[in-house]
Amino acid sequence: MKTAVEVVKEGIEYLAGSGLSEPELNSQWLLASVLGLKRLEIIAGPDLPVEKSRISVYRKLLKQRAGNVPLSYVTGFHDFMGIELEVCPGVFIPRPETEELVEKILQFIGKKSVRILDFGTGSGCIAVALASALFSCKITAVDSSAKALAVAKKNALKHNLSKKMIFLKAGSVKDVPGTFHLIVSNPPYIPVCVIKGLDAEVRAEPRKAIDGGKDGLKWIKRIVMEAPLKLRPAGALFMEIGADQKQKIEPLFSGKPWRKVEFIKDYNNRYRFVKGQVTAVVSE
Ligand SMILES: C[S@@+](CC[C@H](N)C(=O)[O-])C[C@H]1O[C@@H](n2cnc3c(N)ncnc32)[C@H](O)[C@@H]1O
Repeated sequence: MKTAVEVVKEGIEYLAGSGLSEPELNSQWLLASVLGLKRLEIIAGPDLPVEKSRISVYRKLLKQRAGNVPLSYVTGFHDFMGIELEVCPGVFIPRPETEELVEKILQFIGKKSVRILDFGTGSGCIAVALASALFSCKITAVDSSAKALAVAKKNALKHNLSKKMIFLKAGSVKDVPGTFHLIVSNPPYIPVCVIKGLDAEVRAEPRKAIDGGKDGLKWIKRIVMEAPLKLRPAGALFMEIGADQKQKIEPLFSGKPWRKVEFIKDYNNRYRFVKGQVTAVVSE
């Protein structure tokens, strides 16, 4: 029987030959997923025996990965803030910046009890991470994609968070019933002309999840316009934005009802998030 280190070596050679970047990491991740282990367990156990049947599954996954199918679609899972989420083609794969967005939101909430709307929930990553970190919250997770909602629901169920969450198919913030202390969103914000030049891997993701229209701001503008209709007094909107969009987004928040508008940098020193609060008194 072959050992893990031998199987990984075969994978590295295959993936490197296909021109994929980070062949070693990918090879280890794929073998880990086939064996139901963590990547570190593969590294720590080079002599682990790998059955022939597992090797043949592994080779199928290698082939998909070499064809630029995103790793998370090949394995069916994605780690978001240490939470294992199911993902599949047709559902956006969470990104590391969005983990930072969740951290900022959690800092803002502190120990308060909150009602949150997650607009464009996708895999449910933001909603699930917030629900698992917050003691008292009710989160309405909205998406216009039935497939995304089904996956988000499964992820909530898997982590035993369904009681804190409501799932709703809707296409705009104003159509969501109720009012919220917080609206959070990682909307589609990539300009159409940029999408064409993206890596094949990103283009393998649902167009609807990334397409921000001509200037990338189509959904951002709508969310900023509609959020005040659904925010409670002193409520806040948190959004992820494109790295070069701050200047164009600033004017959207000018004047009433917005105040305390803040553009927040990510760990790479780029403005990737915006927070705006509505006035504390409705008639202010
Ligand atoms: C960039 S993805 C973000 C997914 C997830 N929140 C995350 O951070 O990984 C944008 C999501 O918005 C959804 N979406 C696009 N247009 C929408 C609309 N008009 N109404 C509701 N959701 C929409 C997409 O289906 C997709 O799941």
